[in-house]
Amino acid sequence: MTDHAFRAPKGTRDIMWPDSARWRALVELFADVAGSAGYLEVVPPMFEHVEVFQRLGEATDVVRKEMYAFEDKGGRTIALRPEQTASVVRGFAEHRPALPYKAWYAGPNFRYERAQKGRFRQFDQVGVEVLGPHDPHLDAEVITLAWRFYERLGLRQVRLLVNSLGSAEDRARYVEALRAHFEANLDALSEESRATLATNPLRVLDSKRDADAELVADAPRMLDHLSDDAAAHFAAVTAALDAVDVPYTVAPRLVRGLDYYVRTTFEFAAEALDAAQNAVGGGGRYDGLAAEMGAPETPGVGFALGVDRTLLACDAEGVFAPPTAAVDVFVVDATGGDEAVVLADRIRAAGLRADRAWDGRSMKAQMKAADRSAAAVAVIVGEDEKASGTVTVRDLRGDGGQETVDRDQLTDILRARLR
Ligand code: HAM
Repeated sequence: MTDHAFRAPKGTRDIMWPDSARWRALVELFADVAGSAGYLEVVPPMFEHVEVFQRLGEATDVVRKEMYAFEDKGGRTIALRPEQTASVVRGFAEHRPALPYKAWYAGPNFRYERAQKGRFRQFDQVGVEVLGPHDPHLDAEVITLAWRFYERLGLRQVRLLVNSLGSAEDRARYVEALRAHFEANLDALSEESRATLATNPLRVLDSKRDADAELVADAPRMLDHLSDDAAAHFAAVTAALDAVDVPYTVAPRLVRGLDYYVRTTFEFAAEALDAAQNAVGGGGRYDGLAAEMGAPETPGVGFALGVDRTLLACDAEGVFAPPTAAVDVFVVDATGGDEAVVLADRIRAAGLRADRAWDGRSMKAQMKAADRSAAAVAVIVGEDEKASGTVTVRDLRGDGGQETVDRDQLTDILRARLR
C-alpha cells in the first residue's frame, strides 16, 4: 500500500469543522429560501444509467471528458452524477408528480476536471428545478430566489448575467450563423478553437485565448437571432427582474457548459474571486429535456449554485462567518469518572450541549480541557459534592464566579444561565 492511498484523492477534500458547520448552515439557509417559495426537497441517486447524463450533450466536456462512468458488477453502464438537473428530470419522468413540480436539492456531484482552487472533482451544489409552466415570470422567480439567497449570505459582489438562446429552432439557426462566421475566418482562429468549432460552435464564444478575441467580438449575437416569441419571453423575464429590483447584465455571449438549454440562461459571477473560477452558480430553461426522458413535453427551468465556490466568495468578502463554541457545558469529574457519565447524559437530555474529559485525568488537566472546549460553564463534581448531592457550577467566560447547587436543580439552573 503506497502512502497516497491514505490521502484524499485529487480533487476531493475533507470538510472539517468549522467549515462543515458553515456548510450545513448554508444548506439550511438555502432550504429556507427555497421553502419560502413552496419548493420541496428531492434527493436523487448519486449514480444513474449513463444515458441519463448523455442528455447533457455528447459534445460537452462534462459528458465527453469528465464523466465518472463504469460498468457495475451486473454489466450496467453507470455514471456518477456530474450534476442533478438530469436526475431530477429523470425522476419527474418516472414518477409524474403533479404540476407545477417545484423541487430543491443539495448534494455532491462528480466531474473528472483539472483540480485547482475552486475546481474540484467532487463538489457540492444546492439548486432548484421547476417543471410545468412556460411562464417567463417563473424564470424570474427562479433567478430571484438565487439572488435573495446570495443576499442573505451577505454577499454583495455577485453579478447576474442573463441571456437567451431562443427556441430550439432559433438556437439551431444561430449555431449555423456562428459556424459560417468562424469558417469564413478559419485562418484567424486558434487551433484549439478550430477543434471546438467542429464539435460545438457555441463553445468557441467561450474562448479566452487572445488569438480568438477579435473574431469572438465580431461574432453574430444570439439576441439578434431570436424568434418574436422567444424575444417576448426574454423581455418579460427582464421586466420582471426590474420589477423586483434584481440587477442584471444582459450578456449576449454567455454560453453555458451544458447542451439542454433553450430560451433563458443565466450565470452568477462572484467578482471577489479570480475570473477563471468565479462562476458561483448558473441555470436556465431546458424545455425539451423531460420529453427526451420519456415524459410528455414539459418545460423546465432551474439553477444550481456551487457550495464550495460560494463559500470561497464568502471568505473573499468576509461574510457568513463560521459559528463558534462547540458545547455549552463541560463536566469535570474528580471522583474517578462515574459521576460524569450520569451528569453529561442528564444535561444533554435537557437540551444543552455537554462534553467531558476522559481517562481519569487530574482535576487540573480536566479544567484545561474545559477551557479549550470553549464551553460557557463547567459543572464540577468532587467527593464532597457527591456526598452532599450537590455540584459546583463555574462560569468559564465572565468573572469565573461559581455557585454550589442541588443536583436536582442543576438542569434548570443551567438553562436559566445559558438562555
Ligand atoms: P453548472 O454551471 O455546470 O450547471 O454548475 C453550476 C455551478 O456548480 C457552477 O456555477 C459552479 O459554481 C459549480 N461547479 C461546477 N463544476 C464545479 C467544480 N468542478 N468544482 C466546483 N464547483 C463546480 C449545472 O450543473 C446545471 N445543472 C445548473 C442548472 C440547474 N441548470 C438548470 N437547472
